[in-house]
Amino acid sequence: MQYRFGAKFISIPALILLILLFQTAVAFAGHGEAKKEKTGILLVAFGSTMPEAQVSFEKIDERVRSEFPDVDVRWAYTSSIIREKMAGQGTDLDSPALALSKMMDEGFTHVAVQSLHTIPGEEYEGLVDTAESFEGMPKGIDKISIGTPLLYSDADMRAAVSALKSVFPSERKDGDSIILMGHGTHHAANIYYPASQYYFELVDPNVYVGTVEGSPSLDDIMKELKSRKKGRVFLMPFMSVAGDHARNDMAGNESDSWKSILSEAGYDCIPVLKGTAEVPAVLDIWVDHLKTAYSELKH
Ligand code: CO
Repeated sequence: MQYRFGAKFISIPALILLILLFQTAVAFAGHGEAKKEKTGILLVAFGSTMPEAQVSFEKIDERVRSEFPDVDVRWAYTSSIIREKMAGQGTDLDSPALALSKMMDEGFTHVAVQSLHTIPGEEYEGLVDTAESFEGMPKGIDKISIGTPLLYSDADMRAAVSALKSVFPSERKDGDSIILMGHGTHHAANIYYPASQYYFELVDPNVYVGTVEGSPSLDDIMKELKSRKKGRVFLMPFMSVAGDHARNDMAGNESDSWKSILSEAGYDCIPVLKGTAEVPAVLDIWVDHLKTAYSELKH
């Protein structure tokens, strides 16, 4: 095609058309322009259907917002059963995939995802896979980094033990034991529970760590308890929230709760319904992990 720009050969409408085409070309050329950087935080918990357990999430939310006052903070929940139940009660909760999709569409370029799980088990692994698959999509989030759960490193184990020790009941006397109820899992990371037993023993020989769904079981703990002098037993959750497991499986009145089984065996049981996320020194550990993840976004 040949263009002749001599005034004679070009009409006014054609000139306007040429100008319009030129402007369109400029607009297309502008497509590669740098995106505006937008950083956010996504907090991810397993979730709980119990209204009483929400206090844990509120504590975490408050703390994170005060540490990162200028950053948008979002939440997601990894348990599909809990999301379904909550939706049935009129509360819509996001899965990690949905929360990240929304953040992607809203133009977030950098997202620090913090796992609020206790161990690096199935929930955490799934979260890592989901989050990583959102990184670097066309026109999507450029960088995602993931903060490790509460118990991950040797330093975490020691920090968690001293944090929990700080909230052991003050009315506890010599010979009184503490039994912590962890969740437990078939995942290899269940090993964190017997491992934490070791770390507790370094600072307090009368602490036992058991699990609802993994090992050690309550039976395992009772064998150990038997060999000791019978004092009172304080039951505490080793879970972020004092939810269904803590209120029913641990402290419930049903005959198969830990409280009932231990009482039946002659122990004087005192349940303490406080999730680990209600303990400020425990929150410090999660917040430290988030700070690490957040700073990795900038590298
Ligand atoms: Co469970």
